[in-house]
Amino acid sequence: MNRNSQGGATTFEFQLNGRAITWQGDPFQRLTNLLRDQLDLTGTKSGCDAGDCGACTVLMDGRQVCACMVPAAQAHGTEIVTVEGLSTDAKPNGLQRAFLHHGAAQCGICTPGMLMAATELLSRSPRPSETEVEKAIGGVLCRCTGYRQIVHAIVGAHKFAYAPDPGHAEGPSVGTRMQRVDGEAKVSGHELFGADTAPENALWLRPVRSPYARAKFSFGDLEAFRAANPSLTAILTAADVPGKNGFGINPHIKDQPAFAEGHVRFRGETVLALVGTLEAVDAIDFNALPIKWVAEVPVSGFTEAAREGAVRVHETHPDNELVQGGLNKGDIEAGFAAAAVAVEGALQTAFVEHAYIEPEAGFAQRIGDRIEITACTQSPYMDRDDCASILGIAPEAVRIIPSACGGGFGGKLDLSVQPLLAVAAWTLNRPVRCIYTRVESMASSTKRHPATVKGRAAADANGKLLAIEMSAGFNTGAYASWGPTVADRVPVHGSGPYFVPNVRMKTRSLFTNEPPSGAFRGFGVPQATMLQEQLYDDLADALDIDPFEFRYRNAIRTGQTTATGQTLEASVGLIQCLDALRPHWKRLRQEVAEVDTSGSIRRGIGVGCMWYGCGNTSMSNPSTIRVSLNREGRLILFNGAADIGQGSYTVVLQICADALGLPPNAFEQVFCDTDLTADAGKTSASRQTFVTGKAAYLAGRDLRAQILRLANAGDGGELRLEGTRLFVRDGDRDTEVPLRSLSATDEVGTILTGEGQFDPPTEPLDENGQGKPYATYGFAAQIADLDVDLELGTVQLRRIIAAHDVGRAINPNLVEGQIYGGIAQGIGLALMEEFIPGHTENLHDYLIPTVGDVPEIDIILIEDPEPLGPYGAKGIGEPALIPTAPAIFSAIRHATGIKVTRVPLLPHRLHAALQAQHLCGGE
Ligand code: FES
Ligand code: FES
Repeated sequence: MNRNSQGGATTFEFQLNGRAITWQGDPFQRLTNLLRDQLDLTGTKSGCDAGDCGACTVLMDGRQVCACMVPAAQAHGTEIVTVEGLSTDAKPNGLQRAFLHHGAAQCGICTPGMLMAATELLSRSPRPSETEVEKAIGGVLCRCTGYRQIVHAIVGAHKFAYAPDPGHAEGPSVGTRMQRVDGEAKVSGHELFGADTAPENALWLRPVRSPYARAKFSFGDLEAFRAANPSLTAILTAADVPGKNGFGINPHIKDQPAFAEGHVRFRGETVLALVGTLEAVDAIDFNALPIKWVAEVPVSGFTEAAREGAVRVHETHPDNELVQGGLNKGDIEAGFAAAAVAVEGALQTAFVEHAYIEPEAGFAQRIGDRIEITACTQSPYMDRDDCASILGIAPEAVRIIPSACGGGFGGKLDLSVQPLLAVAAWTLNRPVRCIYTRVESMASSTKRHPATVKGRAAADANGKLLAIEMSAGFNTGAYASWGPTVADRVPVHGSGPYFVPNVRMKTRSLFTNEPPSGAFRGFGVPQATMLQEQLYDDLADALDIDPFEFRYRNAIRTGQTTATGQTLEASVGLIQCLDALRPHWKRLRQEVAEVDTSGSIRRGIGVGCMWYGCGNTSMSNPSTIRVSLNREGRLILFNGAADIGQGSYTVVLQICADALGLPPNAFEQVFCDTDLTADAGKTSASRQTFVTGKAAYLAGRDLRAQILRLANAGDGGELRLEGTRLFVRDGDRDTEVPLRSLSATDEVGTILTGEGQFDPPTEPLDENGQGKPYATYGFAAQIADLDVDLELGTVQLRRIIAAHDVGRAINPNLVEGQIYGGIAQGIGLALMEEFIPGHTENLHDYLIPTVGDVPEIDIILIEDPEPLGPYGAKGIGEPALIPTAPAIFSAIRHATGIKVTRVPLLPHRLHAALQAQHLCGGE
């Protein structure tokens, strides 16, 4: 290693993926930056730059290291292997194949780090135990998978040889565990996420954010400041926004500014953006910027916001109220009057951070009078419309080309980098890129709504539910975001997946000076379900009925009406879920009954149930899918369903392929691009498989009908592609479709296009919340088996058994992946995760489950087909998470008798509750 005489750069040499590298540059830069920015190996990811997430794991002399914590000079004389070094001749190796086979890569942002950690282990232990695997990958966080499929892949990696996957070549693919179509890009490290690519000449944008939760601010002479820093290209503020300085997911509420104007409403809000070279924007000391702040006392928490005379967060909203929701069914007072038992309770939850491993990132470039924005997103069409409004141009002038999305879970439905990039690229007419730091991501992005939920419930002497009343207050933070959706969805679901004749629900969302609360897997339903399930455990206890049996007696069945008065006509699978779990329940409860309870460890078994309406609440949410055939026999599926890891690029293809009658590997796909793909809505509300999947089914059937007509064949005709030639066999007759003789409808030779559109049939809710808010519902029940340490107040999960009615599992690997991942997030919600603005804005103070926190999970798929769904399928994204926390709390109650009132149930809270019950020692 030599110190260069010019500029202090250092020359160092090392082996990289088998190649000798000689490099001259800053010896103190992070190895991640050297690999990604200078050697173009973007397979190594960066999720935190702080040693917390493990996404940057590489091998250095055969040992796993976090490249973000290694100075580049330390590579001198070593051998470095990154994910790009695992493949041979561009074919995945055995470990990568195992990941593909087991569905161990969902969004794929953690996958390179996981693979490298596993590679080190397998080099010394080719057939490792699960315990060895868990130890080896313990430093790499995954937010999508719940780790189980990753563990299974590494344990079984020795069974996989180097070989390419041929794709699904023949026969129906629905119901098969077809490998995800974007899987190889994820395991090879070639998938391009928001931070992985930008035009060569792109400038960098660095937002400057408020350090205060509430403050007035004014700028000094920004132009003089810029002139004094000549390598800064621009300093952008609200004054540079050409259109309307406001966005939001609700079509009628665009209350969040791209740049705050004189007043900030939460810590982390953007007030200006520095644009220039990376060195220029990095060199600016934010404290030197001419910004005058006048801090004000913030409105913190729901109670403060609700206080009479509380300061208004928005002048336009008296009492800080964003919205109210409600529902009335039957006669609530009569229900309680007739009851044999009645119970009541309350529960409070916290902000929860999405903690996707990929911080928000992307770039924008102006092309004449249009702009193109590439960033990680769940909602390309909503992004397009809001960015157009911010720029004051037509939506058609904005093209959104989503990058791969490294996890979203609802958090990437709202805009983040996009408006800033749009304003910068548009006004400067230069490509501009931006990558949020982990701290920025956590400070500025939306969160799960903190909720204060109170309720009471009643049943008759036979354990039949008679009434439930609940009120839920939600802290919606500084801006509306998804607050109205939460307020509407919770009343519908608040009585749970049970028949309850009398229901009253009230919700209220209040503004505070805290991060905007948005969408997070469940839209408020998980918060309400935690109390509702606890109340039903209370009723079961009061009646001395087994809690599982209590749920079975009350589980909603086909033909019964919901709290909104909707009669459920089909695909009501809760009873089947409970039937599947019953033997496990009996066995586990019996085991616990025989356990010695004299020690400090108490074992408990609990159950939680849920239901979840797929799609928007009483609102149109159509998807459109197109599939084309050209003169060379090329099939192209235009798939606008943003795949954020859940697998919509695979599932939508499987459905369309089967509907058409040709195998998935006969298709090419154009993924999500607002110029090229029709609007398939947003990836949220567990809607893509159900809604877009149905559109894909209809598109496939439409194209099939056109082909059959050309071949003069009946409905049962069998399609066959031989190279560029398409044949239809109908009985004994085999007809070639004359593709080349048909006239093309465009310049790429398209001759036929199938189109499908589906908008789930719903009806508006009346003033009492009565109507048909969803076309279908997912159902589930989960059992938690755990130990509570009475002395420490800790919970050790032993096993979760999950039964989910998914209508039809289009791809069981992907469905199970959603369930594993949802359960892991449910564990975090129940026991670990509490976001505190200003305090837990990183991944060492904000803890999410590691592999060691997720126990064995047994999944039972129930397929009670939904007649409206594609091949009977319904959604699974959100249902996977909702029952987990209630099942855990039910098990803790079984073990200790403790009822949860504050979520998450952190060890100090559980310990205090145990002390109060004299179940443990201490002061
Ligand atoms: S980026 Fe290195 S540990 Fe997170
Ligand atoms: S697959 Fe692990 S973070 Fe998404």
